[in-house]
Amino acid sequence: MDSDEMKSKAAQKAMDYVQNGMKLGLGTGSTAAKFVDLVGNAVAGGLDVLCVPTSVATRDQAAALSIPLTTLEQTPHLDVTVDGADELDEHLRLVKGGGGALLREKIVATSSDKMVVIADDSKLVTVLGQFPLPIEVVQFGLKSSLMAIEGMATRVGCVGEIKQRMQGDGTPYITDNGNFIIDALFGQIKKPEALSEALMQVPGVVENGLFLGIADVAIIAGQDGITTLEIDGA
Ligand code: 5RP
Repeated sequence: MDSDEMKSKAAQKAMDYVQNGMKLGLGTGSTAAKFVDLVGNAVAGGLDVLCVPTSVATRDQAAALSIPLTTLEQTPHLDVTVDGADELDEHLRLVKGGGGALLREKIVATSSDKMVVIADDSKLVTVLGQFPLPIEVVQFGLKSSLMAIEGMATRVGCVGEIKQRMQGDGTPYITDNGNFIIDALFGQIKKPEALSEALMQVPGVVENGLFLGIADVAIIAGQDGITTLEIDGA
């Protein structure tokens, strides 16, 4: 089974958490897109759900599938959000934002009773940090924010290459919220809670891609089948 098939298997399993009448958060990325496709099929077959997308890309995909959409303004409380991750550990701590949608993803996930993460097993790590941590910053004062991020990260023992995300054409990557993304490759994030807290003290930082205490369930697909990790009580 290749990683694409594993993503499909995880997305399929996440459908077990979907019930008629639910309000759902729809994640962003290639794994979440498979779940959105499945929700689209189910809606075509009569499933009644109302969904909040976590990005413009997911909104466009869902709209093309005729999935009923709403916003957090109209529907501020959701039942379940299903989303992918760039990395996760056994405590269901995540790194997200590889697709640049971390801010909306975090807002939507924390507006939900339950966050279900779907991933292939390459995403499961013992220590977070091999994937560069995405940090969303306002455009104003970028260089100062970069320096401040480096300083705060160093204080909590995280050192590594910190750079602005660029697009293929050499222009800065801009999020759906009009902000920049900084990618910080620390190699190992031994104290994710301390790092997250430190980063959020930088005034230009809007949000960081560490999702701590947010995910309730992770559905991880591998060659040997599906493993489900759950936080107690989820
Ligand atoms: C987007 C995300 C994605 O969930 C993450 O990048 C995983 O994407 P993929 O499923 O394509 O590997 O956080 O901001």
